[in-house]
Amino acid sequence: IEQTFSIIKPNAMKKNAIGDIISMFEANGLKIAAAKVTILSKSKAEEFYAEHKERPFFGELVSFMTSGPVTIMCLQGENAVAKNREIMGATDPKKAAVGTVRAKFGDNVGENAVHGSDSTASAARELALFFEKHEICNV
Ligand code: GTP
Ligand code: MG
Repeated sequence: IEQTFSIIKPNAMKKNAIGDIISMFEANGLKIAAAKVTILSKSKAEEFYAEHKERPFFGELVSFMTSGPVTIMCLQGENAVAKNREIMGATDPKKAAVGTVRAKFGDNVGENAVHGSDSTASAARELALFFEKHEICNV
């Protein structure tokens, strides 16, 4: 069974969409193995998005991700990484398939409602960045 890392971003938190988004994960066979509402520090957000350091939108991305509370989660299920990416939809909400989280709750390519790890290796790195091992349950 696979685990992946998910963030409900500040714009979706402002829409009171935690329940709706988690319902979409659960309806598609993913289980919540860990969850926490928190505010990311600037240094944590920079470390998390280190691969995008040289991109022109890096500063904007970090300031958005630290602008308010987020929900960080571990999702568990068969093919959790790919399944979560499918439920999320394309990075740009305008290009995201109808019925996906980003189509429903994304505002633009930056404020796109959710994050999901893009590989099992990323998932392991990202989960370790935000959760202690004992905080993740085998659900
Ligand atoms: P994540 O699941 O968040 O990693 O999204 P992704 O894998 O679909 O996209 P990518 O890793 O390429 O980009 C990471 C994040 O950077 C995106 O989710 C956006 O929030 C943000 N981002 C990507 N492109 C742009 C852009 O052109 N402008 C802004 N402001 N943000 C962007
Ligand atoms: Mg990515």
